[in-house]
Amino acid sequence: KDFAGRTAFVTGGANGIGLGIARALLAQGCKVAIADIREDAIEAALKALDNQHVIGVTLDVASREGFAAAADRVEAELGPVSLLFNNAGINLFQTIDESSFDDWDWVMGVNLHGVINGVMTFVPRMKARADGGHVVNTASMASFLCGPQPGIYNTTKFAVRGMSESLRYSLAPFGIGVSVLCPGLVKSHIYASDEVRPAALLGGAKAVNTEMVGRLEQVHQFGMEPDIVAERTLDAIRANRFYIFSHPEFKDEMRELFDEVVDEFRDYPDDPGYQRRIGFEQGR
Ligand code: NAI
Repeated sequence: KDFAGRTAFVTGGANGIGLGIARALLAQGCKVAIADIREDAIEAALKALDNQHVIGVTLDVASREGFAAAADRVEAELGPVSLLFNNAGINLFQTIDESSFDDWDWVMGVNLHGVINGVMTFVPRMKARADGGHVVNTASMASFLCGPQPGIYNTTKFAVRGMSESLRYSLAPFGIGVSVLCPGLVKSHIYASDEVRPAALLGGAKAVNTEMVGRLEQVHQFGMEPDIVAERTLDAIRANRFYIFSHPEFKDEMRELFDEVVDEFRDYPDDPGYQRRIGFEQGR
């Protein structure tokens, strides 16, 4: 795929992985819109990128209306978007049983509905233009591997992976590629997600555990540089690969997971109805 001259829309583009992707795209000659809920971070990012082909858009990805307005503005200023990065995400580091409905609404709203809104806003436009394109949805290794924490995050990331895979098949005939980005630990600001939680969704929220946030901040310093994740993401787009596994250290854990899954099929023979159904479907 040729990046030069195309327009990209990157949600959560003011920090972390999104900012890395924006930088990598600009280096390839793309025009880039970074859409983010943090206005001060957008300003800082635009300054750091220092490039005439990037603009900032204030957007809460959980808002359908906000997304449509942002898309109109960006396409008017930078031309048709054919590279979409649904990347904005937050984390709530707690278990499901200690979570409230407002916790669910916040994390589902950003991590899942944000991706849905991006797809529903831009994919019809991309299809109508018949000029190909690519959609990258940022999931996580947490779209495969779970722990007690963070349960809602796991739920949203599994959903993003499932949605991305279905979309991959439905958009292939239109020349629009789809990838799901599944990073492990990355140097980013995700530990500070509480800062962007809307006041309307604070009901039932546990007090922010500042000690844990401090520890997570330290841990994320050991994470992969976003620029490396971004380079691996662009490589995958070029090759039209679906899975983007930036962190090879998860290979063994993934093998264990899939070995467990496949092993669990061992006990029973195929149901007789299965063979009859295959015959029926093949007209025999
Ligand atoms: P980050 O916090 O550095 O960047 C995320 C950006 O999204 C921030 O600038 C934030 O302001 C923005 N954002 C948050 N809520 C928003 C909303 N409602 N609307 C618009 N923008 C919003 O975090 P990071 O790590 O770069 O996160 C990017 C994606 O990568 C997320 O989807 C995250 O789940 C995923 N991820 C991160 C990993 C990590 O270790 N940092 C590992 C695996 C996946």
